[in-house]
Amino acid sequence: MAHILKKILSETLTPDEISQVCSAFDMIGSIVIVKIPDPLKLKKQIIGETILHCIKPAKSVFAQTSAVRGDYRVRSLEFVAGEYNTITEYREHGCKFRVDIENTYFSPRLSTERLRIAKLTSENEVIANMFAGVGTFSIIIAKMNRTCKIYSIDCNPSANEMSIINTKLNGVQNRVLSICGNAKDVIEDQIRGQCDRVLMPLPERSSEFVDSAVLALKGGRGVIHFYVHVKANSKNTAREKADSDIQNIFNKYQHEILHTRIVREVGPRVYQIVSDVCIGP
Ligand SMILES: C[S@@+](CC[C@H](N)C(=O)[O-])C[C@H]1O[C@@H](n2cnc3c(N)ncnc32)[C@H](O)[C@@H]1O
Repeated sequence: MAHILKKILSETLTPDEISQVCSAFDMIGSIVIVKIPDPLKLKKQIIGETILHCIKPAKSVFAQTSAVRGDYRVRSLEFVAGEYNTITEYREHGCKFRVDIENTYFSPRLSTERLRIAKLTSENEVIANMFAGVGTFSIIIAKMNRTCKIYSIDCNPSANEMSIINTKLNGVQNRVLSICGNAKDVIEDQIRGQCDRVLMPLPERSSEFVDSAVLALKGGRGVIHFYVHVKANSKNTAREKADSDIQNIFNKYQHEILHTRIVREVGPRVYQIVSDVCIGP
């Protein structure tokens, strides 16, 4: 996938320009998001049109002009070519998602992780997804596990609105409750002590919310999926560093790290890592 972009642009750009193209791009429904380096800015129109011509389902091309940022983890985008439309429908693991790429966080690169978590759930589990975005993890879990109930929390009203739409699109609105608010407050006020499992997919800040995640667990027992970003020279070192950091972060609770894995590389030598942490005796 990563080399496709360089390949399709090889007849449009010079070899020197091709060497500057960032090969990674995201295809979300009918929208392609690329990174266009400054020296190629003047070529953005032709880059966009070539992408539309070669990648058939694509109807719109946007350039990402900032990293994901802010409380809502959204990125700045610049329209490049095709239809100006920032809302699209994306399909994953038999589920449909309406996604607003301008106002909500979304990454197709978490697809394997979403399936992994869904497969770990058992019958009749109650789950809290503290940072649910447009509802992807929650809805995939609910579709695969017909007996679970999920509190799907996000502080971004646009993400919550999309999550409500997506639960209905997938027929799981009775078991996925989309709640708009700060996960800490929602847990304290509405769901403390109710959950068997808690998802914390906010790697930049998850350590700030550990007490809230534990508070959500039934009798202080259950599994927390804890996501972090780790900078390290190799994947093995990153995994070891994550384990040691997570031991410290969960130090005051009786806990066992069940499994740690690299989810993806998010920058040069920066890895997104998840640990499945079992809390309680
Ligand atoms: C990395 S995204 C989540 C991605 C999502 N799980 C997915 O698979 O697409 C993090 C989300 O957390 C939300 N968020 C950030 N701080 C929050 C908080 N204190 N309480 C609830 N949601 C929060 C953001 O609005 C954003 O949608």
